[in-house]
Amino acid sequence: MPSLDADLKQRLAGIRSQGLIRELRRVDSPQGTHIQIGGQALLSFSSNDYLGLAHELRLTEAAIKAVETFGAGSGASRLISGSLAPHHELEETLAHFKDTEAALSFSSGYATAIGTIGALLNRDDIVILDKLVHACIVDAARLSGAKIRVFAHNDLDDLEAKLKWTEKVQNGAHVLVVTESVFSMDGDAAPLPEIVALKEKYGAWLMVDEAHATGLYGKKRRGLAEELGVGGQIEIQMGTLGKALGASGGYICGSRTLIDFLVNRARSFIFSTAPVPAASAAATAGIHFVQSPDGEQRQKLLQERIKQLNSKLKTQNSKFQSAIIPLIVGNETRAVGAAATLREQNIFVPAIRYPTVARGKARLRVTLTANHSSEDVSQLIRALETLGIGL
Ligand SMILES: Cc1ncc(COP(=O)(O)O)c(C=O)c1O
Repeated sequence: MPSLDADLKQRLAGIRSQGLIRELRRVDSPQGTHIQIGGQALLSFSSNDYLGLAHELRLTEAAIKAVETFGAGSGASRLISGSLAPHHELEETLAHFKDTEAALSFSSGYATAIGTIGALLNRDDIVILDKLVHACIVDAARLSGAKIRVFAHNDLDDLEAKLKWTEKVQNGAHVLVVTESVFSMDGDAAPLPEIVALKEKYGAWLMVDEAHATGLYGKKRRGLAEELGVGGQIEIQMGTLGKALGASGGYICGSRTLIDFLVNRARSFIFSTAPVPAASAAATAGIHFVQSPDGEQRQKLLQERIKQLNSKLKTQNSKFQSAIIPLIVGNETRAVGAAATLREQNIFVPAIRYPTVARGKARLRVTLTANHSSEDVSQLIRALETLGIGL
């Protein structure tokens, strides 16, 4: 048997030869529209900080205050000793924001999916996933042991076919449908009202991950479910605190019973140290910001930037326009080359490749934020024109 390092070197060489190698880039500045990498100042279109809150004073001050009051660490899992006031304040704020009975926060969106699906389902159950749901939902479904069925992306006929199939095999099994509302790598939207109608027709449960929609859609900026008028019909509303809300962590909003159950059965919640107080306090401040007139203003600014870039795009797949704009390149090595060329022009856009997206579907994933100026977007447009991608 080769040594561990020899074996791993060979595997890494295989990954590199397919254009799939990933490396960490050290950023020496706060996240924002302009970042510093290796001494180079770059205009960044890479973060999910859609409203520009990650470095917003109200959030950083809330985090500092929480550190001063509650310390740097949280001590233990919340069921052991760590259920600090900032976690409770966050959950009360979340439930009010999403207009649900209760909420539970987790240390990450990934942990939220793993804990929640794992708590709700077991090997006798069935989980039906949109083909493009995030890896954390796929992993959660696998770990739960439930039978997994995948419907073609946003394809209601295929979803209905899968639901019909469950009627034949169901035999008392629980059936959970899971989708995102705005998809992380394609930026398109799920037909939530139709999905709600189908899950009700077949008596299934529905979980919607609003990671890329919370803070951005709806009059109260609760998410796409609010905008489409179905928030009250989704049993399990998931999201993250690390994107538009500017902090880090994940959450579930739903009934009091659902939350009580998760406290008792969600293993990633029970067996993990609570998030640091600073993260929860920053997230609470992020939600308050989103709910304020300033939040509305940022939502509008973001929409303007999205319109500006979309007006130049060659292909616009749907009327729905999100802050995630994928410029499909196809070949993995070409996508990495395109990102490197942009970096030479001081613009940072990540090349997204397998396994984040399917093989041969590599892309530049542009994300816009409310803090990008019109000139920032014009600079990106000029660079993309030179590159001959997307425009
Ligand atoms: C749709 C979606 N859900 C969940 C997650 C995981 O959230 P977190 O980064 O907080 O673990 C992500 C990405 O980070 C995501 O894009």
